Amino acid sequence: MPESTKTLLYSAPMAGYTNYAYRELLRMFGGVDLITTEMVSARSFVELEMRGSELPSRLWGVREESRPLAVQIWDNNPDTLSLLAQRLAFEFKVSVIDLNFGCPAKQIANRSAGGSFLLQFPDRIGDIVQKVAAAAKPVPVTAKIRLGRTADTINAIDVAQAVENAGAAGLTVHGRTASEMYRGNAHWDKIAAIKPKLKSIPLIGNGDIQTVDDALFRIKNYPVDGIMIGRGSIERPWIFRQIAQALRGEPVDSEPAVTELRNLIVKHFNLLQQQFDEHTALFLIRKIVCHYAAKRVGARKFRNDVCSAKEPAKFFQLIDDFFH
Ligand SMILES: Cc1cc2nc3c(=O)[nH]c(=O)nc-3n(C[C@H](O)[C@H](O)[C@H](O)COP(=O)(O)O)c2cc1C
Repeated sequence: MPESTKTLLYSAPMAGYTNYAYRELLRMFGGVDLITTEMVSARSFVELEMRGSELPSRLWGVREESRPLAVQIWDNNPDTLSLLAQRLAFEFKVSVIDLNFGCPAKQIANRSAGGSFLLQFPDRIGDIVQKVAAAAKPVPVTAKIRLGRTADTINAIDVAQAVENAGAAGLTVHGRTASEMYRGNAHWDKIAAIKPKLKSIPLIGNGDIQTVDDALFRIKNYPVDGIMIGRGSIERPWIFRQIAQALRGEPVDSEPAVTELRNLIVKHFNLLQQQFDEHTALFLIRKIVCHYAAKRVGARKFRNDVCSAKEPAKFFQLIDDFFH
């Protein structure tokens, strides 16, 4: 990659987290080049549509919110995926459509033969990418994969080439196999081995980036065109801004003070309430604040207390007591 080429900073799709509220927070902090929704089931979309019901809740906000925005979709049927991709491209006018070929969760990979199940069939992945790219054209279609299904069947290079040859505009690789789930460390050497086998599409590396130093180390030592961050950006949604500053050679913002963190929690809760009822918003913000608290003294007690807070008043009392 030429030195002048900008390293792409992507936020990872995360079911249960990367809803509208979270995406707005990421935008507020800046530094991120592409934000992705949670994965949307193409089959559910089509079924809801046939029943004349509302859109899947994971598409909430997508029509109106700022661009660029990628929507990630999953299924194993190219026609179902193409139908949704076409709607996303021409009606919702999203910036990118990302195909999920990496999810290891049982209900996706085993029961629905989607996500990482498809990794064992690079030709089928190629067929899906080709049909979806044709349906969405000119909106770019990308793919997100893992290294393979198991340590014995790592085939990310075959899959990567099938994805590129079928007309995808980019590829993200989470450096674990599906059977590893989230155990151990992501194998960045195996992500790096894919780069020389691609002709021109950008390769985005993903897995275990928690800090600015982690990000800079990966960018310096592995031949990727960009990085994607998931869990590290739940804990620190400001991480993209810090990485972008470091890459530009500017001073890096310090970590937010506890008062800023408290304001951020209020903001996040208010944003969640635009989409969800109070009960659900409280459930979702409780998960987030446990991440913020994780490395602080008293985190375990805080987590227990916060999980039993059923009213916003009680919740914010606990926040005030802990983040001061
Ligand atoms: C709670 C959670 C939900 C996730 N949901 C998705 C998803 O909807 N689609 C997807 O492709 N990957 C999903 N992932 C995987 C992440 O996008 C990412 O590949 C993985 O967490 C590794 O990156 P990280 O170490 O930066 O978190 C999810 C991960 C987590 C922890």
